[in-house]
Amino acid sequence: MKQIALEAVDLAKSYVADGVQTHVLGNINLKIYKGDFTSVMGPSGSGKSTLLYCLSGMDKPTAGDMLFCEKSIVRMKEQELANLRAQHFGFVFQAANLVSNLTLFENIAVPGYLKEGRTPKKTLEAVENLIERMGLHDVANHLPNQSSGGQQQRCAVARAVVNQPDIVFADEPTGALNRANSLEVLALLSEINATGQTIVMVTHDIRSAMRGNRILYLEDGDVRGEFNLPPWDAQRSNDISYTRDREAQANAWLSSLSW
Ligand SMILES: Nc1ncnc2c1ncn2[C@@H]1O[C@H](COP(=O)(O)OP(=O)(O)OP(=O)(O)O)[C@@H](O)[C@H]1O
Ligand SMILES: [Mg+2]
Repeated sequence: MKQIALEAVDLAKSYVADGVQTHVLGNINLKIYKGDFTSVMGPSGSGKSTLLYCLSGMDKPTAGDMLFCEKSIVRMKEQELANLRAQHFGFVFQAANLVSNLTLFENIAVPGYLKEGRTPKKTLEAVENLIERMGLHDVANHLPNQSSGGQQQRCAVARAVVNQPDIVFADEPTGALNRANSLEVLALLSEINATGQTIVMVTHDIRSAMRGNRILYLEDGDVRGEFNLPPWDAQRSNDISYTRDREAQANAWLSSLSW
């Protein structure tokens, strides 16, 4: 039996603009399981980013709740929420959202030093590993505006995972990247997932989505369907028949939903 990492209960979100209420998420009931790599797909405007923001406690739903370790995120005080984000959750935004007056290195290291129970030396090692891994060595001392969009996005991924969070939320983490950099980011996410960390990733790209063992399809603010696959086998990531077969399975499912 899989354990639940996070649960959305009757989660709803609407916005009011000029007196008109827009329902973005309608009563979503969803369990995210520990150790799963869940991909979220769906048309533009279907509510994917809003769902990720609500699930991670970055945004408050209009109704309903999210439960982390059976604890209400909606009822958490600001300090508890800050602790949840620093110790348990990592977030990659759709736009990199780096701190503009910190270098790429510092953007990863500053949240890294908040990790409880880790020595500064270990944090420094973790940051340096991620800098190498994400190919940021030559630009580590650049400010975000002195770095390319792809470098900023890879830095944002490194920042999200530096504290080995229980759950990594990633909103189109490869959206701004070329194929080689996308594969590097996906490999990193698959690798940390293989060590037991839970991933929830929004993507438009089936080749990214099929890294997950579960794909959700969101439409008009509701989860319309889900597709389950065996966990990604990193040993076979260069095996074309393996990746094509996975992609074909996911594509066939998406076509059945008239994507
Ligand atoms: N702050 C806001 N005020 C009003 N409407 C909003 C707000 N944020 C999002 N929306 C609306 O909510 C809907 C869902 O937005 P969301 O960003 O979650 O979509 P998405 O599925 O992530 O789209 P994309 O694939 O383009 O990133 C859209 O129609 C959007 O216009
Ligand atoms: Mg979005």
